[in-house]
Amino acid sequence: MVTTILAIETSCDETAAAVVADGRDVRSSVVSSQVDLHAAFGGVVPEVASRAHVALLTPVVAEALLEAGIDGSELDAVAATIGPGLIGALLVGVSAAKAYSLAWRAPFVGVNHMEAHLHAALIEEPELALPVVVLLVSGGHTLLIAMDRVPGDEAAQAGSPVRFVYRLLGETIDDAAGEAFDKVARFLGLGYPGGPAIDRAAVSGDPGAIRFPRGLMDDGHDFSFSGVKTSVINYVRKHPDARVPDVAASFQEAVVDVLVTKARRAAAEIGARGICIGGGVAANSVLRQRVLDSCAADGRQAFLPHLSMCTDNAAMIGATAWYRLRTDGPTPLDVGPDPNLKLPLA
Ligand code: KG4
Ligand code: ZN
Repeated sequence: MVTTILAIETSCDETAAAVVADGRDVRSSVVSSQVDLHAAFGGVVPEVASRAHVALLTPVVAEALLEAGIDGSELDAVAATIGPGLIGALLVGVSAAKAYSLAWRAPFVGVNHMEAHLHAALIEEPELALPVVVLLVSGGHTLLIAMDRVPGDEAAQAGSPVRFVYRLLGETIDDAAGEAFDKVARFLGLGYPGGPAIDRAAVSGDPGAIRFPRGLMDDGHDFSFSGVKTSVINYVRKHPDARVPDVAASFQEAVVDVLVTKARRAAAEIGARGICIGGGVAANSVLRQRVLDSCAADGRQAFLPHLSMCTDNAAMIGATAWYRLRTDGPTPLDVGPDPNLKLPLA
């Protein structure tokens, strides 16, 4: 029997809803970005985000159901991101999902947003060769995670879900990679969000023009991006005539170099079959090309989810909800949002 889930994502500045069947078949995925609302402030304003979610969620859910050609009463579960994220923003999606769940008598499933980024690749690659090293790079997180099936689980009965286990290999000790892109872009006057702006500006720049520092490059699996950000600021103050595309390309080169070097080293260390990327920064064109090239050179698979699956969306919430529903069952309705929810690690 097919399990059809309505999933809702409102953890930050994207109001999203999707209908996903059996965790893989995305019947609809609607994302309403609030980026224009926040651009005037140069970053996400939590109160503005919450109010926009209130206004946008009902029409976004209606569109997701309409596109999927399904009535709410036909749903098998209603899922929502319960964290991590902005508390006011999370509350809108979780409260709505619980109300729909009661109205349509479908169980509620609370989903961890970071786990959902890990599962995004599975939508396009259900047979992802494990173990895989996942580089999760967004505006709030920079994590290197080993994703594998639970040891001994191979003997599980046919039809029972594969159980995943996540091991944290490394994380940022200061700024997240996306945060560094956003701060440098703001300093260079490239606007918000910074990542796509730097990606675009770098196209006409020389990535070898300036050698910016590669934080913690030869030191374990952790990351540090505050040094490169400060270095860009100091360089531009000292060289006011520097070409913006050259600065953007050189900064991007430094960040991508560290991300790929570390992911590659971690993959070799744990004997990973592949490298997967997720989170908003995974949309970066140079990062994608570099992961492809290095995996080809190392004989590993590169899993690069489609751009729409890298940035925040509800399809990945629906995929994860299906997995969690099968392993843990529904989430009790007294479980509320947790802005600091952690990834369940081994
Ligand atoms: O995962 P995401 O959509 O939202 C969360 O932070 O949870 O990631 C947004 C981040 C922002 O910092 C944005 O600047 C960055 O992803 N980003 C990029 C690119 N597109 C988005 N960074 C580098 N290159 C890009 N093309
Ligand atoms: Zn995200």
